[in-house]
Amino acid sequence: MLEIKNLHARIAEDGTEIIRGLNLTVNKGEVAAIMGPNGSGKSTLSYILAGREDYEVTEGDILYNGESILEMDPAERAASGIFLAFQYPMEIPGVATMEFLKVAMNSQRKARGEDELKIPEFIKRVKENAADLNIDMAMLKRPLNVGFSGGEKKRAEILQMKLLEPKLCVLDETDSGLDIDALKIVADGVNSLRSPDRAFVVITHYQRLLDYIVPDTVHVLSRGQVVKSGDKSLALELEKNGYAGIIGEAA
Ligand SMILES: Nc1ncnc2c1ncn2[C@@H]1O[C@H](COP(=O)(O)OP(=O)(O)O)[C@@H](O)[C@H]1O
Ligand SMILES: [Mg+2]
Repeated sequence: MLEIKNLHARIAEDGTEIIRGLNLTVNKGEVAAIMGPNGSGKSTLSYILAGREDYEVTEGDILYNGESILEMDPAERAASGIFLAFQYPMEIPGVATMEFLKVAMNSQRKARGEDELKIPEFIKRVKENAADLNIDMAMLKRPLNVGFSGGEKKRAEILQMKLLEPKLCVLDETDSGLDIDALKIVADGVNSLRSPDRAFVVITHYQRLLDYIVPDTVHVLSRGQVVKSGDKSLALELEKNGYAGIIGEAA
């Protein structure tokens, strides 16, 4: 579903190379975890997948269902079923969360050739999913992410993901700022979407999240490259021994 081949990317403004020959394949139905020390390029990878203009791909390719997405703008990528939950979700003053969800959901449905949802059906779906995520409906009347706590932002992102039903979900540090109860709620939300025709890239600094979202594969990122891949036992090994051993091995 996702194939990243020898990807090199740099910061557009000053030309600093951050991603340096990254290879990664994620199959349909798979949950791939990306781990790696601070500054290894995890968030940068998520921005490049989203199509942010601050980064330039200088070499390599990103294939989604066999086709390059490099020439697609962020909206086209979203319409094709790629969803990203960022480490620091953007605040959008002036747009009520509910309104945002309705517009996003209907444009996603349109892209899939489905009809717009009627308001009562839309509200019903939001209520059900919000309840599962322990989100108060009053929060959804407020502007998107404005004044939301760290945990509320993360839950709001999972709510979006559940309503949009994307095919490739990239979650960057979804566990940061969550207490253990919120972490379980978020993990349940992710797990409820796992399906044979959907794939996840779960970026996390800590093994803890992976106790709840059990990955099929684990990839270690260091200096903009995947330096080691394995199954979930690799995450446990990292937890025990830290990154130094693996990164040393690769250097
Ligand atoms: N827009 C930017 N301007 C300057 N430095 C950046 C920018 N984006 C990323 N970097 C640098 O790239 C490296 C990788 O960052 P990041 O992808 O956020 O790492 P991670 O998410 O793995 O902690 C860091 O050294 C960071 O400072
Ligand atoms: Mg990061």
